[in-house]
Amino acid sequence: MTGGLGYIGSHACVALAQKAIPFVIVDNLANSSLGVIDRLAELVGYRPPFVEGDIRDGDLLVETMERHAIGAVMHFAGSKAVGESVAMPLDYYVNNVAGSLTLFAAMVRTGVKTLIFSSSATIYAQTNAMPLAEHAALGASNPYGRTKLFVEQILFDLSVSDPAWSIACLRYFNPVGAHPSGLIGESPRGTPNNLVPYIAQVAVGRREYLSVFGGDYETEDGTGVRDYVHVLDVAEGHVMALDYLRRHAGCVAVNLGTGRGMSVLDMLHEYERASGRSIAYEVTGRRPGDVARCWAQVSLARDLFGWQATREVEQMCQDSWRWQLANPDGYA
Ligand code: NAD
Ligand code: UD1
Repeated sequence: MTGGLGYIGSHACVALAQKAIPFVIVDNLANSSLGVIDRLAELVGYRPPFVEGDIRDGDLLVETMERHAIGAVMHFAGSKAVGESVAMPLDYYVNNVAGSLTLFAAMVRTGVKTLIFSSSATIYAQTNAMPLAEHAALGASNPYGRTKLFVEQILFDLSVSDPAWSIACLRYFNPVGAHPSGLIGESPRGTPNNLVPYIAQVAVGRREYLSVFGGDYETEDGTGVRDYVHVLDVAEGHVMALDYLRRHAGCVAVNLGTGRGMSVLDMLHEYERASGRSIAYEVTGRRPGDVARCWAQVSLARDLFGWQATREVEQMCQDSWRWQLANPDGYA
């Protein structure tokens, strides 16, 4: 597993351990900390094998895959901040595209042809109607999104070139929440870019108020609507996708979402209920690049993997809050 110490990867570790599926983590700690391993050990009952290293180091990947007799790869590693990708596009293309190419080449060298790739709903064109089905038009509006789109296209080409590949590009909508133990969760460095971590930091008193980016969208309350999905549901989706890939060749792209949209203010009020605290906010201008509405059609994940999100928004907020309260500064 690449990027296994990150937010989604660490939850996937727990989901794999729950099914007694062994795994090895490769992570360069660019956006995570070693403390995650201690937490995982506490959760799963053993210290997961970890290799500190970069996905751009092909020899290290080959050596790791051979030494551990790897049969499949979950590829989470990458950079994910949209604003940063606009300021530093080359860094994003190098880490997300070149890094992925190095990984795929290492997989070819070792004969490993089963792969799950972390894609994103951000690759859907902004002109689509809701809900977004997997066959909707694609088109990214920033370098981060383009890296995801390019890698998906590379993977489709790869699967055409060699029918032995089994690949799933999982298009996450908005993963939020944390493991219910409060031991692992999202630990953004600096100011959070995403809504729920920001709300959590306001609720815990680290920040004064939430800036609501736009109150004049064509939505019920004027604020942006998104498909928030519990990170453990997302993690379990990977385990179910892996099971599917063991029986099916080719390359599929599949949405992971709940199929329901929630506005910024809906989410804020849910979080107030979960935390028992009032959360100050101020409506400000729109954030460049944001869309008014975005939610998934979720039938394909159900039809192919037998997966559907099971956790409600109430649990997303409760679990996020438990994590935030127990770890006010994240893993720091
Ligand atoms: P994260 O930053 O928490 O985790 C990514 C992990 O990859 C980190 O531990 C980081 O240290 C590691 N990493 C980065 N570059 C690396 C490299 N070159 N070599 C080795 N390790 C490297 O992010 P996340 O939220 O867990 O997201 C995981 C994946 O899912 C990313 O590819 C992201 O783009 C994608 N995704 C995330 C979201 C979301 O909302 N979190 C939505 C859609 C897609
Ligand atoms: C963002 C990224 C997307 C990425 C996803 C997960 C952009 C344009 N899109 O999606 O590429 O895949 O994160 O990492 O950055 N909001 C506020 N105040 C805040 C933060 C957010 O009002 O402080 C609003 C946003 O305007 C949006 C909603 O909350 O309406 C959700 O925002 P966010 O959590 O950043 O997710 P996305 O914008 O969906």
